[in-house]
Amino acid sequence: MNFIDLRSDTVTRPSAAMREAIANAEVGDDVFNDDPTVARLERMTAELLGKEAGLFVPTGTMGNQVSIKTLSNPGDEIICDEGCHIFNYEAAAGAVVAGLLFHVVRGVRGVITAADIAPLIRPGDLHSPRTSIIALENTHNRAGGTVFPIEVMQSIRQLADEQRVMVHLDGARLWNAHISTGIPLADYSQCADTISVCYSKGLGAPIGSCILGDREFIAEARRTRKMFGGGMRQVGILAAAAIYALENNLSRLVEDHENAWYLAESLSEIEGVYIDLDSVQTNIVVMDITGAGREVPDVIYALKEKGVLAVQFGRTKIRCVTHLDVNREDIRDAIKIFREVFES
Ligand SMILES: Cc1ncc(COP(=O)(O)O)c(C=O)c1O
Repeated sequence: MNFIDLRSDTVTRPSAAMREAIANAEVGDDVFNDDPTVARLERMTAELLGKEAGLFVPTGTMGNQVSIKTLSNPGDEIICDEGCHIFNYEAAAGAVVAGLLFHVVRGVRGVITAADIAPLIRPGDLHSPRTSIIALENTHNRAGGTVFPIEVMQSIRQLADEQRVMVHLDGARLWNAHISTGIPLADYSQCADTISVCYSKGLGAPIGSCILGDREFIAEARRTRKMFGGGMRQVGILAAAAIYALENNLSRLVEDHENAWYLAESLSEIEGVYIDLDSVQTNIVVMDITGAGREVPDVIYALKEKGVLAVQFGRTKIRCVTHLDVNREDIRDAIKIFREVFES
């Protein structure tokens, strides 16, 4: 069966044109800094985000973990919101690999404020852990693709400067925030010392993320990446896909956002399905089906039987994500199938 796959924006497959870019990539051994395509991608991404330098890594998880490990010493503390990816979905790497103590804050739709964070910053005495990092996520996956407002990021930046704490931004989907608000990527990235962005989500590359920061940080992160086993060789074949994605698939994210909104509005009309429409700001739709009196796994199974794939997102919720490989017609078909499943 040809599924309408709404499980994630990571399920896209490289197009023929992207595969051609991969096939034609000039490569070299990147551990020797010899891969011209990787160097070009890192330069391009750093320029887009207004940072001095970039470092190509295989995954968003490695992007986050290399960053926070490089910024801290074991026993230091990181402050982040309780729903963030770094805390919930990276197999506790921040604790195990970087040796960090996590101080989590209950955010609102993934947003934590300078006022939330300020009282948590440690005094820097003999007894306390050192507060080294504030981690933010934009857009916020678990909150349903919500945008972290730039003014809140700016006030956190100011607090962090006053307190000499570093800010790391998990920008796996920062592209979506930029397209949704029209705020330049560089304005977001000015609020952070280090950033991790992904090419393998909305942009549709098969693999790859990039860490951005100043030259000194990136030189140190290169060493941490090697420690993590992430030093790669003729990896220009993957960087070529990411360059293709950046050049061709960034501005079209607006279509994914429109499709997500259309999906959300239509599904919210189904009896028993609740969607917080205010949280539908980019390409993610989260629905709570408590009111339908149905079990999530049963609904997901019934959707699959009819050709739609979605994922369970907590006990009573289902998540759908729009992306490059689903168009408006697919979304129309998916809505029809959702109706059939809930009205049966
Ligand atoms: C916000 C966020 N950060 C980081 C990641 C990790 O990316 P990867 O799966 O490439 O490790 C994800 C993955 O979905 C994510 O949603």
